[in-house]
Amino acid sequence: MPIVSMQEMLGHAFKERYGVPAFNIFNDLTLEAILAAAVEARSPVIIQTSVKTVKSIGSDVLFGMWTEMTRDIPVPVSLHLDHCPERAVISECLAKGWNSVLFDASALPVAENRRQTIEVVAEARRYHAGVEGEIEGIQGVEDDIGSDEASKSQSLEVALDFVRATGVDCFAPAIGNAHGMYKSEPNLDAQRVSDIVAVVPVPIALHGGTGLTDEQFKDLIARGCAKVNISTAVKMTFMKANLAFLRDAEAKNKWDPPSLFRAVRQEVKNLALKHMQTFGSEGKAW
Ligand code: 13P
Repeated sequence: MPIVSMQEMLGHAFKERYGVPAFNIFNDLTLEAILAAAVEARSPVIIQTSVKTVKSIGSDVLFGMWTEMTRDIPVPVSLHLDHCPERAVISECLAKGWNSVLFDASALPVAENRRQTIEVVAEARRYHAGVEGEIEGIQGVEDDIGSDEASKSQSLEVALDFVRATGVDCFAPAIGNAHGMYKSEPNLDAQRVSDIVAVVPVPIALHGGTGLTDEQFKDLIARGCAKVNISTAVKMTFMKANLAFLRDAEAKNKWDPPSLFRAVRQEVKNLALKHMQTFGSEGKAW
C-alpha cells in the first residue's frame, strides 16, 4: 500500500521540480474520483481534508474511507490535514493516521506560532508524519477558516528563521495568492519563493490554486512550489456537475442516483487529470 509521507512525496517533487497536486476532498465521491485520476495519470497525489470536513464526516469514518480506497493503490498517496488552528484536531488526526498536517497559527504572533509549531513538529515526528507551517494568513475564507483581509507580511529573515527553527517539512508563504475565486488578477510575488528556497531548500506549498493560469503554476513550480493546493475548483466542479445533471433529470423526469454519481465523478476526475498534466506530476509515480 504506497501510502507515503508528505516529506517523501515533496522531496521527489522539489528535486525534480514538478508539483504534487493537493486536492481538498469533502466526501467519498470526490475522494474516489481523485484517487482514480491519480491511478490513471500515474501521478502522486495529496488528499487534503479541511477541519470542517473532518468535523462533518468524523475522523473515524473519513480515515476508514481513506484506508479502504487506498488499499493496494498502485501510486503514492498521502493524507493531509489542511489549515488547522486547533491543536486538538491536529492531535486527533495525527493519532488516527493522517500523514501530515498544516498547523495554521498564522493569527498568532510569530514568536508564539514558532513556539507551538516546534511542539507540533515534535508530536508529528512520533507518528513519522509531516508538518506544513505558515506565518502569514493566506487571504480568503475557506471552510470557515481565514480572513478576507490581507494579513501582515513578514520579512524574509523572519520566514527563514521560522523554517529553520521549527523544522517544518513544507512552508506556505503568502505571495499575493488567495483562497477562493480571485476578484482581480493576482499580483504574485514569485521571487519570494525563489528567495526562500535559495537559502533553505524547503518545499513550498502554493495555496489558492483555483484561478491561477498554467503559466503561473509552471513558473512557481519551477521556483520550488512542490505542493499545489486546489479546493474551490473541486467544489465548483462538483456542484455544477450536480446542477447540470439534475436540471436534465428534471426535464426528462428521470431520477437515477447512480447515473448522477457517475456523471459527477467523471467531471471531478477530469479536473484532477488536467491539473496533474499542468503540474508535471503525470507519470511521476514511483
Ligand atoms: P483554492 O480554494 O483557491 O483552490 O485554494 C486551495 C487551498 O489553498 C487550500 O488550502
